[in-house]
Amino acid sequence: MSNEVNMNDLIALCKRKGFIFQSSEIYGGLNGFWDLGPPGVVLKRNISALWWKDVVDLRDDVVGLDSAIIMHPDIWRASGHVDHFHDQMVDCRKCKKRFRIDHLETDHCPECGGELTEARQFDLMFKTFVGVAEESGSVAYLRPETAQAIFAQFKNVLSSSRMKVPFGIAQMGKSFRNEITPRNFIFRSREFEQMELEFFVREEDREKWFEFWVQDRFDWYMKIGIRKKKLRLREHRKEELAHYARRCIDIEYEYPFGWKELEGIADRGNFDLTRHIEHAGKDLSYFEEQSKEKFVPHVIETSAGLDRTMLTILADAYHVEELEKETRTVLRFAPAVAPVQVAVFPLVKKLADPVRALERDLRRWYKTFYDDGGSIGRRHRRQDEVGTPYCITYDFTSPEDGTVTVRDRDSMEQVRIAMDQLRPYFDEKFQYPEKSPADA
Ligand code: GAP
Repeated sequence: MSNEVNMNDLIALCKRKGFIFQSSEIYGGLNGFWDLGPPGVVLKRNISALWWKDVVDLRDDVVGLDSAIIMHPDIWRASGHVDHFHDQMVDCRKCKKRFRIDHLETDHCPECGGELTEARQFDLMFKTFVGVAEESGSVAYLRPETAQAIFAQFKNVLSSSRMKVPFGIAQMGKSFRNEITPRNFIFRSREFEQMELEFFVREEDREKWFEFWVQDRFDWYMKIGIRKKKLRLREHRKEELAHYARRCIDIEYEYPFGWKELEGIADRGNFDLTRHIEHAGKDLSYFEEQSKEKFVPHVIETSAGLDRTMLTILADAYHVEELEKETRTVLRFAPAVAPVQVAVFPLVKKLADPVRALERDLRRWYKTFYDDGGSIGRRHRRQDEVGTPYCITYDFTSPEDGTVTVRDRDSMEQVRIAMDQLRPYFDEKFQYPEKSPADA
């Protein structure tokens, strides 16, 4: 069995099964943009729902926000993005490839050894115009992170929700960056989704909450089924820190193209709120009833990429197994994220009616799929490739004794179960872990 994923095989599977398509493919594609097909959209929604559940719903110290993508351009001046959010790039004079300076380890081209040009600066923020006039006064930006709206709306959320420090505001949604080198499939794209939490604390509690969130977020990836051995933490060196950060630890995953950032946990100090206080001239401080103190809270941020989590789940789940007579490709998704949880088959088409009824019944609780095309073996393989954990087959014995077979994707074992026992059986199998499995 191998899980050394080849990216080209994974990309081909994603297209074949409808997880991910290149955007605008019929016009030759648009670099850095991707579309999700039927199982892809369900996978993404499952991941974002679990993030929201764990970060917001199951906690009593976090509330949500859903802000506009385009905001007042002064927000990006105050945050430092207008001045700081660009990449220094160099081109290779020989092979013409372009590289980010901070990704280079030599002063020559890593691909062909050629000579590199002087560095040039590229703005990462997408610009647009608001209103009819395309003039400098109407320039606005597509947000490069969801975080800033949380700071800009801090006071409104605080006064309407009556939350008390320490508390957090969470937001997920699209972000846009005009990346110079979008690459590695959906790993770095120009339009992507983030899942961010800004957790407001007293300055002296920063360390404690930083440690808490690093651990909590690391564990979450195991809860959604990612193997621990493929995850690690990496602290940023001083010179790598973003302009707003005092400390940052990345959760990294070992992708087929190396260890790379999946999520960043940053101590942003009170940089952002202070900057908005200065630029907007509004009081964004917090008054603590108990101590009668007024202060600008500090922030611990957890910032994850939704598309990147999706790529991670796909790469981690992808396995190719040599069986006796054939090779099978299987996505070993955790049941909580699987786009199809239970597939339901009649052994032969003439048994279709009761099976359709069974599938309609089960779809109230699980994500189901009905299939009566081809041999049972072929149907199993198709479900393996989209990562369906369980397949039910209704056969000639079923109408007589009320049982069906349930086949387990990973062990490929089949058990006979009474149809009226399917719900307790699956409910137990699909339980979302409260804590991360110790040795996932
Ligand atoms: N608010 C902090 C912030 O945006 P970041 O490290 O620039 O920090 C956080 O981004 C996360 O967003 C990354 O860890 C990654 O998962 C995701 N992300 C950033 N740029 C991305 C891109 N171009 N494509 C896909 N995901 C991206």
